[in-house]
Amino acid sequence: MSKQMTSVPRHLTFEIFRFNPHEPDGEPHMQRFEIEETPYMSLFIALNKIRETQDPSLQFDFACRSAICGSCGMMVNGKPSLGCRTLTADLPELIRLQPLPVFKLIGDLSVDTGVWFREMAQSTEAWIHAKEAFDPQADEQRMDDELANTLYESDRCIECGCCVAACGVARITKDFKGPAGLNRIARFMMDPRDERGDQDWFEVIANKDGVFACLGMMACHDICPKELPLLEVYAYLRRKALTTKSRDD
Ligand code: SF4
Ligand code: FES
Repeated sequence: MSKQMTSVPRHLTFEIFRFNPHEPDGEPHMQRFEIEETPYMSLFIALNKIRETQDPSLQFDFACRSAICGSCGMMVNGKPSLGCRTLTADLPELIRLQPLPVFKLIGDLSVDTGVWFREMAQSTEAWIHAKEAFDPQADEQRMDDELANTLYESDRCIECGCCVAACGVARITKDFKGPAGLNRIARFMMDPRDERGDQDWFEVIANKDGVFACLGMMACHDICPKELPLLEVYAYLRRKALTTKSRDD
């Protein structure tokens, strides 16, 4: 029988990180809330229930509620997860929620992943580089199906930040491109419309903030809620970096 079908509702205790950086006198602390579990309760439902019935000042982010917008990443009992697709039935009765590390804290469980992802996109110039100006009237360029599927896989990233929060290197190395950044780089490296050459990419990936900073623990791969093939991305980038000569050679 599914855990959802059990008749006696569980009594859930939430311990939630509280801190508002705009209140300089406030101290970061964990606050307890108690609620009754309901069938198919997600963290989205639980947090809204707490906010509606116990504390309207509780801050957290949700938009799509279906693992598409990437706004609800949070630490759930120490593991980066999407709040909208985490069911309380899959968690113990004591649930600890904290904001994702690495990203700028807005308040309580809410973080600004946008700043990190924008800086990453700008530093890697994550857009198609072509000498010809884009002509909206021109026929679309054909692309091999297999390659198109590989690019599509990379583009499924919802920029939730869970992989970055799970990465020990990203936590201590400010400029490390991180799993999501390296995934973005690989996506443009593979795109035949991007005219940057191997040596241009070598400058981006083969340095202390690129693929060689990765220690290979691969928590990013295990944690990614969209199951992106991050192991394959790293293998591709390492192969490229090792088979390309630097401009100085
Ligand atoms: Fe989230 Fe996965 Fe993208 Fe990382 S690679 S930001 S975990 S969707
Ligand atoms: Fe959009 Fe969770 S609310 S991914």
